[in-house]
Amino acid sequence: MKQQREQWTSKLGFILAAAGSAIGLGAIWKFPYIAGTNGGGAFLFVFILFTLLVGMPILLAEFAIGRSAQKDAISAYKFLTPGTAWPWLGRIGIVSSFIILSFYSVVGGWIFIYLLHIFLGNLQIESAEQFNQLFSESIMNPYLAVGGQLIFMILTIWVVGRGVQKGIERASQIMMPALFICFIILIIRSLTLPNVGEGISFFLLPDFGALNSKTIIYALGHSFFALSVGNSVMVTYSSYLEKNTSLSKSATVIVIMNIVISLLAGLAIFPAVFSLGMEPTEGPGLLFVVLPAVFNEMHFGMVFLFIFLILFLFATLTSAFSLLEIIVAVFSKDKPKRRKKVTWITGILIFLAGVPSALSFGVLKDTTIINKSIFDTADFLASNILLPIGALFIALYAAFKLPKSLLLNELTINTKHGKIVFTIWYFLIRYIAPTAIIIVFLDSIGMFDW
Ligand code: PFF
Repeated sequence: MKQQREQWTSKLGFILAAAGSAIGLGAIWKFPYIAGTNGGGAFLFVFILFTLLVGMPILLAEFAIGRSAQKDAISAYKFLTPGTAWPWLGRIGIVSSFIILSFYSVVGGWIFIYLLHIFLGNLQIESAEQFNQLFSESIMNPYLAVGGQLIFMILTIWVVGRGVQKGIERASQIMMPALFICFIILIIRSLTLPNVGEGISFFLLPDFGALNSKTIIYALGHSFFALSVGNSVMVTYSSYLEKNTSLSKSATVIVIMNIVISLLAGLAIFPAVFSLGMEPTEGPGLLFVVLPAVFNEMHFGMVFLFIFLILFLFATLTSAFSLLEIIVAVFSKDKPKRRKKVTWITGILIFLAGVPSALSFGVLKDTTIINKSIFDTADFLASNILLPIGALFIALYAAFKLPKSLLLNELTINTKHGKIVFTIWYFLIRYIAPTAIIIVFLDSIGMFDW
């Protein structure tokens, strides 16, 4: 007898899971640091533009593919277009998910290191420089870096292996609003520090002179990373979805939440950066150095920092679950018996692949690939090359390969003004998204530098 496929128990369950996948390190940790190193306000502007005009249409395309096929990331393409090379899109997605989780778990591990520091009382320090020093020393230490990464991966494997992540996503109903409130408190404190004007204008006033081909490819890559699109994770998640949920409503909620959390993170961080005399170009340590320093300026600062870290960890884990789930879904083919074994093997391989990234801030600091550390290379390869390539082909697949009637049906279910929404989407996915990705790519390899 064919086994019944698992499904989300409700519409809300799906939205929470998909939003849980999208919102994580991308909006909270990565966005502020790459905005900081790529021009601030101008980066924010381009990122929002790409998210709305390119990322969101591709998110909808992944939803339509996943729900119509009701299959994992590779089988979905096989089912919809048998005998073609399109399933390679799913395979590329598996590779990019593997690489992303390998370095994602390193940063997840840093959260554990900070929780440990709180318990040891190591964060009772005064100046921003001291936070900087503590952060650098922590991530340079191979035992802490690899240990944190290991704990993060074990937790991810444990949850995905038992297949209970869908239950956990229900907790985001409380955790996400709590994270939001935490950010509001942080922003209030950050904005009441002395001399915050410079930080606000750095973040909110675009200086378009700061844009160049590098900034633009980072903004494009980040718009995919932050929405979890380009690697068929959202194909997998929507394959567990029943027929009457409105895909465009779900996508709108996810996109808005993602942009709002990114804005909140930026507003909490940048005013404080300038006020405390730090540099916005700090790099991956930006959040880990600035936020503890802001909490330090508050009554019960360490209690708030602890709460923030737990919420941040939760948001990070729900994204990690989706990255592991896509691979596990492919290799366990809905057979619950195989699921645990596949999850452990895959998870351990990802952990091992991530160890060089974890060590790239310390013992492997001087090992570089094309002028980048191992960690940055993994991030660049996955976020700025594989995700955009995946996204480009998903756009072309939906726009030129799938029957229009199938898409029209998927995207108009339970959707007000469905026809109009569909017409706009079809235009964006056929013309704007592919053209934008191709132009940004050509620009990044110097095609337009005369
Ligand atoms: N969207 C996640 C974040 O912003 O933290 C990262 C991510 C998860 C990227 C899942 C890609 C993905 F498939």
